[in-house]
Amino acid sequence: MSLIELIDLPAYGDSRGQLVALESGKNVPFEFKRVYYIFDTAQGVARGFHAHKNLKQVLVCVSGRCRVILDDGRKREEVWLDNPRQGLLVCDMVWRELHDLSEGCVLLVLADEYYYENDYIRNYDDFLGSLAWKP
Ligand code: TYD
Repeated sequence: MSLIELIDLPAYGDSRGQLVALESGKNVPFEFKRVYYIFDTAQGVARGFHAHKNLKQVLVCVSGRCRVILDDGRKREEVWLDNPRQGLLVCDMVWRELHDLSEGCVLLVLADEYYYENDYIRNYDDFLGSLAWKP
């Protein structure tokens, strides 16, 4: 099964433009407690490089584009996010990297838990070592 799970986020478009509504437990498949956004990323900088022990997230690139790498220790897959009508579901124990954030890229993230630094695994070898199965 692919690590890349894209969720359709229907836009309500009319002659004025577009609008997408994100609803907890509806088009976002979990109750979210936290929303943050990444913007003004310096050119050439990559972000992420961590996994979460217990956190579900949906990533929506509301402006611009970026390339996301997901890695579960068995396989490594990538996807370009460049469509505000699409969300990328990222589950726990998945290593994620954000690359090639374009100028003006705004990445909106919905999370099902508050921010806990202890939930992060920021070292790739520690991530591999934390998997229930051993690579
Ligand atoms: P960090 O997790 O390093 O960003 P990245 O997604 O690139 O790995 O977060 C950057 C800083 O922001 C760090 O000091 C932690 C802080 N932070 C919060 O306080 N709350 C949050 O919800 C998030 C995601 C980060």
